[in-house]
Amino acid sequence: MSGDALVVFTPSGRRGRVARGTSVLDAARRLGVDLDSVCGGRGICGRCQVTVAEGEHAKHGISCTSTALTPSTASEQAYAADHGLAPGRRLGCTALVSEDVVLDVPPESQVYRQVVRKEADARAVAVDPVVRLFLVEVEEPRLASSRSDLARLLDALEREWGLTGLSIDQAVLQSLQAALRSEPAWQATVAVHDGSVVTAIWPGFHDAAYGIAFDVGSTTVAGHLCDLRTGDVVASAGAMNPQIRFGEDLMSRVSYVMLNPGSTRELTRAVRGCLAKLTAELCRDAGIERTDVLEVTFVGNPVMHHLLLGIDPTELGGAPFALAVDNAIRLRAAELGLPVNGGARAYVLPCIAGHVGADTAAMILAEVPHLAEDVTLLVDVGTNAEIVLGNRERLLAASSPTGPAFEGAQISCGQRAAPGAIERVRIDPKTFEPRVKVVGCDFWSDDPSFADTQVTGVCGSGIVEVVAELLLAEILTTDGQIDGALAARTPRVVPDGRTFSYVLWDDEPELTITQNDVRQIQLAKAALHAGCRLLMDHYGIDRVDRVRLAGAFGAHIDPVHALVLGLVPDCDPSGVTSAGNAAGTGARIALVDRGARDEIERVVRSVEKVETAVEPRFQEHFVHAMAIPHDVDPYARLGAAVALPPRRAATGAGGRTRRRRSTAERRPS
Ligand code: FES
Repeated sequence: MSGDALVVFTPSGRRGRVARGTSVLDAARRLGVDLDSVCGGRGICGRCQVTVAEGEHAKHGISCTSTALTPSTASEQAYAADHGLAPGRRLGCTALVSEDVVLDVPPESQVYRQVVRKEADARAVAVDPVVRLFLVEVEEPRLASSRSDLARLLDALEREWGLTGLSIDQAVLQSLQAALRSEPAWQATVAVHDGSVVTAIWPGFHDAAYGIAFDVGSTTVAGHLCDLRTGDVVASAGAMNPQIRFGEDLMSRVSYVMLNPGSTRELTRAVRGCLAKLTAELCRDAGIERTDVLEVTFVGNPVMHHLLLGIDPTELGGAPFALAVDNAIRLRAAELGLPVNGGARAYVLPCIAGHVGADTAAMILAEVPHLAEDVTLLVDVGTNAEIVLGNRERLLAASSPTGPAFEGAQISCGQRAAPGAIERVRIDPKTFEPRVKVVGCDFWSDDPSFADTQVTGVCGSGIVEVVAELLLAEILTTDGQIDGALAARTPRVVPDGRTFSYVLWDDEPELTITQNDVRQIQLAKAALHAGCRLLMDHYGIDRVDRVRLAGAFGAHIDPVHALVLGLVPDCDPSGVTSAGNAAGTGARIALVDRGARDEIERVVRSVEKVETAVEPRFQEHFVHAMAIPHDVDPYARLGAAVALPPRRAATGAGGRTRRRRSTAERRPS
């Protein structure tokens, strides 16, 4: 083979001339093509696979066949026998260029790649993990030389991979000599974190690297175990946050710490214990070694964030709600007591403000409002709703104290979303009879197949729907009163002391929506609505066209019912969509894409924080938002799509004072 050959790589389109006889891997490196390799061209890892794009390529002036590369080598055949090699695939490190050629680099052979997420509207995730594996041959020690095992390992990393200035984790030092002397001796795979520190070592070739993205919520803790090579989630697990025994909601946990000096340690121990158990469970479920977990990321609200890190959250309990730290935190996973590789690293996303945490930062990372032209309102409905508003020009964030009503707490028949919980409700406006759907059953209650389904309570989405449906059926007045006059027309409306209740489920156990239940929902939704309006005031807009509801609750809530309730400001219902578990997704993005960490740290610094607790207008918005859907806003855009009932305020049981003209044509089905 003599002379040059033209090599074109797709999909990058990079091209250039290389000497015939150059390996495809070397050609790729020379031309700056992203072609993976862990074994450094030894024909072991199989990461360097390419395919000859056979045929006529008029654009490049190349007509190529499989003979454009040298025939399959013995090591390639050995790899194919052991691991399989798809037809047409070649190992780029052993195949040499013999003629002009167009080569396709499949996604799995690219170090950096885009993975398209399934969710609509979701950003593509780049897979470019902060930790990478490198196989090296280390020189054996010699009497004539005093160079240590570590020095010779670092020599090999520089010689074979061009890695310089590396430091080494203590955990690696402890296992270094054993690893280098285990069979196959003097060959080892090391994990290098952020191109700067060796965090793990294995004898011989090792090709497994995993990470866990944790979303530490005040109620539940969820973990997703991801393959750092592909970005795929290989196992997910969740558990109740054991800190619940110190207080149901965030503020009661902060109060516990205030009243019990030194108790931060207890709460920290509780959540770390939960994380350790989840880690073990995830590895067991996926059938992987814990030592293959090399990276961990965390998101959580500010109180969860501080308690995870062992920081006293007392300052977050009152104005001015000072965070101890608002930078991203990088530390060893072992410092958090996680049973993973001793050198594994943890990354805690940055908090934004005293009430707006790393979970909101993660939501921004998943939803990327800062890259959009249109203004987006992002809402994570939890016990503390976190709200982000803006676009590429400005991003504002706030939190609003909604309380736990949307999670079923403080509601007489409320429960968490679990089998048996009513999650969907429709009420016939003529007969006032309801039909419901429960978690775990695909049928509505008026379907014969529903018979024998156990109904146990009402979860958050069911509560939103029942209150909205009560309004649409005119059982509820605009100011949230159950119309007692209807007791004469339906057995569903029953006296309950000085007020009335609505019997949603008349079987065993009977479930009623009381006047107090409606009040709790009004208070919660008014807080959320007021927070949204406050951000709109600051941004200088009085309408939004795009609303994304995040979190478990947001994922299940029906946009029309959310608007009828007035949970968020008026909007065309088609503009209100679910963002799924955006915080968890953001944690995963930060896990598999090193660039996303820089991105969110940059964006968080530019977010304008709005503190609802000290804003006088918050109270004003709150009072208006107590009405359903709103006291002064006619919700015309919702009304254009859905028949809203005439506006009524109570003047005693069933009294009617004001009427609103409906522009509506249809009710939600
Ligand atoms: Fe590892 Fe080619 S680089 S098999």
